[in-house]
Amino acid sequence: MRKRVTKAIFPVAGLGTRFLPATKSVPKEIMTLVDRPLVQYAIDEARAAGIKEFIFITSRGKNALEDYFDNAPQLEQELRRKGKDDLLEILKSTNMDSGEIAYMRQHKPLGLGHAVWCARRFIANEPFAVILPDDVIAAEKPCLQQMVEAFEETGGNMVAAMDVPDDKTNAYGILDVREDMGNIVSTKGMVEKPEPGTAPSNLAVIGRYILTPTVLQKLNKKQTGAGGEIQLTDAIDAAREDGEEVYGYRFRGQRFDCGSKSGFLQATVAFALARDDLRDDLWSYISDTVHAAKAAQ
Ligand code: UTP
Repeated sequence: MRKRVTKAIFPVAGLGTRFLPATKSVPKEIMTLVDRPLVQYAIDEARAAGIKEFIFITSRGKNALEDYFDNAPQLEQELRRKGKDDLLEILKSTNMDSGEIAYMRQHKPLGLGHAVWCARRFIANEPFAVILPDDVIAAEKPCLQQMVEAFEETGGNMVAAMDVPDDKTNAYGILDVREDMGNIVSTKGMVEKPEPGTAPSNLAVIGRYILTPTVLQKLNKKQTGAGGEIQLTDAIDAAREDGEEVYGYRFRGQRFDCGSKSGFLQATVAFALARDDLRDDLWSYISDTVHAAKAAQ
């Protein structure tokens, strides 16, 4: 019987420089898409996939993130007193049980691989998930849940994958595909940020992973890769070289790169348009703006 995936690592120790000056004092992961911080979308997705333990890799300046997950009894009391039951329910739905969330500091931003390695003592000998909260995926069935279901069939390591245009390969880890079976591909390698024209495929790795403890062992070596950082993709590929399978999973859904300003804005519009309470107003604003812009051309 395959071990269930019940632990997820959320690496949130990056500097978030693309959002300066906001990220001078606000962690990127607390920035809101409509009215929920990025990190709440990640937690909800993990829960839907059966995750029970949530391990955050944080860094200096991320206290607001830890505060966000604290219960807010005074606020709850006030909402109860004012009869604002709908808001109370929303607030309560974000509460975490004591002990299900853990924080670990990454003392230096040495890369995503290093951030994941910082969680090694929480993982022991079982498969685990990694979620990057700045990759937000709108999907009918949450992306990690799709992956966990696929992983129950395949085992091995699994990375979320999506097809990207030729000129965008240098922004991603790219899979070297052995066999393409549609939703799932088996791989014979992975290259971090290959220049356009040199990539082994157009299948890019994005921020959802299900990994074996072997990957943590590979990270123990702390070898630096592209950009002088300790790369997670290098450790996954080293596990593959040791004989483990690495599958790419083409998820169903739309991914937004909320680590970039443009991706964040697109996600804001998409998530707002998906909301009954905001759609009509926003839609009329967008169409008026487009009409006015066209008329001015
Ligand atoms: P990014 O490459 O998006 O870096 O990291 P960043 O620091 O968050 O943002 P920019 O590029 O400066 O704007 C991808 C993910 O890996 C985490 C980040 O927090 C983010 O979730 N990460 C990256 C770490 O936890 N530690 C690191 O050393 C590097």
